[in-house]
Amino acid sequence: MHNRVLVTGGAGYIGSHTTVELINAGYEVIVVDNLSNSDRGALEGVRQITGVEPKFIEADCCDRDAMRRVFEEYEFDSVIHFAAYKAVGESVAEPAKYYRNNILSFVTILELMCEFGRKNILFSSSATVYGDADVLPVTELTPRKPATSPYGNTKQMAEDILRDMVAANEHLSGIALRYFNPIGAHPSALIGELPRGVPNNLVPYITQTAAGIRECLSIFGDDYDTPDGSCLRDYIDVVDLAKAHVVAIQRLVDGRNKHRYEIFNVGTGRPVSVFELVRGFEEANSLKLNYKVAPRRAGDVMAVWADTRLANEELGWRAERELYDTLRAAWEWEKHLRQ
Ligand code: UD1
Repeated sequence: MHNRVLVTGGAGYIGSHTTVELINAGYEVIVVDNLSNSDRGALEGVRQITGVEPKFIEADCCDRDAMRRVFEEYEFDSVIHFAAYKAVGESVAEPAKYYRNNILSFVTILELMCEFGRKNILFSSSATVYGDADVLPVTELTPRKPATSPYGNTKQMAEDILRDMVAANEHLSGIALRYFNPIGAHPSALIGELPRGVPNNLVPYITQTAAGIRECLSIFGDDYDTPDGSCLRDYIDVVDLAKAHVVAIQRLVDGRNKHRYEIFNVGTGRPVSVFELVRGFEEANSLKLNYKVAPRRAGDVMAVWADTRLANEELGWRAERELYDTLRAAWEWEKHLRQ
């Protein structure tokens, strides 16, 4: 089944947006999710946006027997593997939880793909693999730095596992997409990010502050060696990011990949500072945000942004959404959640 895709973690933030874009592009999607950090409601949002309800199986990708049943029951050529834990701080406190979940789930999926002769695998990697890069912007050939957290280490390890599995299995092809900082929500405000507890990431913290759930945003550091002293990141709209998955899967399905294992940066190519992002949010939504400057956050890199030429040229993909529109969508989603 060329046009059928198994999406693990499909009820999550990036997974649900990608499921929408896959359906819009004519794919049939089977979602596997254990709902440990996601909500079934996301799939209802997918249905409302697309008019199609994706097949949903509640299962844990580490559960080999449950996953085997999925492979036995459904024919699909392609898998997009989103299912993973993603909180940096938690990974430092509970490394075993991260290694067990993020590595075991991926190895299980890859082994089953080999056993069942399934061909194409897309993996959610992260710009975190570059660490504190010496030269910016980073290209896919920029050497990876040793990971600074167990979470980051699981992304590096999983990339290496994918490379080795592809090398050893002739029928298998894989792409790792290195996401920069995904933000925003679907313009319909029917799906978006659902942080549990106090958000670690900047944009959910901003929207919750604007909604009055958090009192004040702390800007972590204004004394970096950057134009305005705050950190620089490459904020990529989640819908643009979702579309990158569709073109990457299509490349594998069509056999247009140049190598059986490929890596692409998925970002805008534009560095944006924390102050710029906060100002952008205020202007885009005509409101004032309560914020203060706080000390640097341990583990933060000063700056990282993508060289996106490889994705532009090879995938024919580029980020299209304007930052203002993205920040408007983030706020619309936050308001939708509070209704
Ligand atoms: C973080 C992870 C990264 C992961 C990504 C997932 C770290 C070191 N990195 O990226 O591995 O892939 O999340 O989305 O945690 N900021 C504030 N105030 C806040 C929150 C953030 O000023 O309340 C600043 C940070 O200092 C940073 C920027 O906003 O400069 C972005 O932070 P965040 O959204 O947490 O993403 P990263 O740290 O870049």
